[in-house]
Amino acid sequence: MPSKRALEAQDNAVFTTSNGAPVAEPYAAQRIGLNGPLLLQDFNLIDSLAHFARERIPERVVHAKGAGAHGYFEATHDISDLTCAKFLEKGKKTPLTVRFSTVGGELGSADSARDPRGFAIKIKTEEGNVDWVFNNTPIFFIRDPTKFPHFIHTQKRDPETHLKDPDMFWDYFSLNPESIHQVMILFSDRGTPFGFHHMHGYSGHTYKFVNAEGKFHYVQIHFRKEGGFKTLDDATAGKLAGENPDYGIQALREDIDKGEFPVWNVFVQTMSAEQAEKFRYNVLDLTKVWPHKDYPLRPFGKMVLDRNPENYFAEVEQAAFSPSHTVPGVEPSADPVLQSRLFSYPDTHRHRLGVNYQQLPVNKPLAPVANFQRDGPMAFDNQGTRPNYQSSLVPLTYKAKPYEQVKHESWLGAANTDLSFITELDFEQPRALWQKVFDNTQKEHFVSNVAGHFGGVKSPVVKARQLSVFAAVDQELSDRIAKAIGHPTVKPLAVAPADKATRFQYNERPLN
Ligand code: HEM
Repeated sequence: MPSKRALEAQDNAVFTTSNGAPVAEPYAAQRIGLNGPLLLQDFNLIDSLAHFARERIPERVVHAKGAGAHGYFEATHDISDLTCAKFLEKGKKTPLTVRFSTVGGELGSADSARDPRGFAIKIKTEEGNVDWVFNNTPIFFIRDPTKFPHFIHTQKRDPETHLKDPDMFWDYFSLNPESIHQVMILFSDRGTPFGFHHMHGYSGHTYKFVNAEGKFHYVQIHFRKEGGFKTLDDATAGKLAGENPDYGIQALREDIDKGEFPVWNVFVQTMSAEQAEKFRYNVLDLTKVWPHKDYPLRPFGKMVLDRNPENYFAEVEQAAFSPSHTVPGVEPSADPVLQSRLFSYPDTHRHRLGVNYQQLPVNKPLAPVANFQRDGPMAFDNQGTRPNYQSSLVPLTYKAKPYEQVKHESWLGAANTDLSFITELDFEQPRALWQKVFDNTQKEHFVSNVAGHFGGVKSPVVKARQLSVFAAVDQELSDRIAKAIGHPTVKPLAVAPADKATRFQYNERPLN
C-alpha cells in the first residue's frame, strides 16, 4: 500500500523512456509479424532491460543490512572550552542522516541477529560534513587493524560450504583474546538489541576535541537513548528472525510516521593528555572503556530523528559515512584501528558508489565545496568554469584552521608490531562485567547464549582454548559454560602481568 505521502505526491506523471520521450504502450515489446523476433529499435524494451540488469550496486562488505532516517543535532550545552566546531556552539541545530545496521549479515539478513549494531551519523554542518561512524557498544574486538578482514571472514561464510561455521568463529576469538570484552557484550542480551532505535551509540575510539586556542582533549562520545536501551532475549530474537526479519526497519519507520520521534542525549567523556598518561589503560586501546566515575559524562547535545526517507536507495543505501569526514575542532586520535578506518571507508565508497560519491544528494555537503577534483563517472557537479588547478588568475582562497596546529602529540621509535600483546589488563573489564554488572538472570542468559553457539564447535582444540579465555575472565564463568556444553573444566589462559602492557605517552621522549 503506498504511504499517505506517496499518495499526496502523486503528480499524474506521464510514462517515458529514460530520455524523456513518452511511450504509448509501456508493456508492448515490438516484434516482427505475429510470431517473429524482436526489433533492436525498441528502445523502451532495451532501455528498461539494460537498466534493470544494472540496478544492484555492491552491498557493503560489512554492515550490509540497515535502516535510516533523517533528523537534527542540537547543541544543548556550551563546550567551547573543549572544541571550536561551529555546529557544537550552544543552541545550534544541524540537519543529519542516520543509518543503523547489523554487521555480519547480508543485505537480506535478519534485524534481530546477534551482532553489534552500527550507529552511523552524517551531520551536515556549515563547515562541511562530520560523520560519526559509531557502534552500539563502547568497545571493539580488535586493536590491530590488520586483523579486521580475518576477523570479519570468520563471522561470515566458509569459502567451501558457504555456511556460517562456529569453528571458524570461535577459532578466531580463542586465538585473539583481546576480543573477550566485546565477546562478553555480544553474548549478553545486549548482543540482540530491540530494533534499531532503542540502543545507545558510542564512539568507542578515542577522538580529539580541539578548542579555539588549539588545546586538545581526548574524548569519548556517547549517544544515550532517551528511555534507555531495550534488548531481546535469544529465543525472541530467533523467533523474530523467522517471522519478520525486517522488524527493525519497520519499527523505526512506523514510530517516526506516528510522530514518536526517537531522541538521544549526547555526552562526552574527556581526558587531558597528562591524565591519559596516568590512565590505567592505554587511551588508544579500543578494547577498553573509560570508567564513568573517573571520567564523568558531560552533556552537550541532543539528536532527534523526525523524518523518514522518501527513497531508501537514494537516502540510505547510497549514504557513505567515513570517520575521515570531519571538521575543525573534531579530530581523530592515533588509535590504530581508527587510523586505518580513515583510509578504508572512502576506499570502499569509491568501489561501492564511485569516485564522485560525495556528489550524491544524501552525501553532498550543505557547505560549499570548491577544489581541484574533476571528472570521473557521474560528475554531475563538476564545478563549472572554476580552474582545475591553483590558478593565479582565478585563485581559490584558503581559510586557515580556526586554531594554530599546535604540536599535539609527538611519536617516536622503531616500527612496532606488538598491538595484540595480551596482559592481565585485558581481562579486568570483562571480569567486572561478569562479577559486578551482570545480575543472576543476565549471567544465566550469557551462559546459555554462549553455549547455544559455542556448543556447535567441533574442534576440541578450539573448545578448550576458548574455555581457557573464559577462565582467564572468571573460573566460575568458564566452568558454567563447560558444564552447559558437556566439556571438562579448563584452566585459565596464561597471560603476561599488567605491568608489561604498553604504556601510553602522548609526547614520546627520545630513548637514550
Ligand atoms: C561499515 C571497515 C571497524 C563502524 C564499514 C565498511 C567498511 C568498514 C569497509 C563498509 C562501508 C560502506 O560500504 O559504506 C572497517 C574497518 C575497521 C572497522 C577496516 C577496523 C579496522 C569499525 C569500528 C566501528 C565501525 C571500530 C565502530 C566504532 C561501522 C559502521 C558501518 C561500518 C557503523 C556502517 C556505516 C553505514 O551505515 O554505512 N566498516 N570497520 N567499524 N563500520 Fe566499520
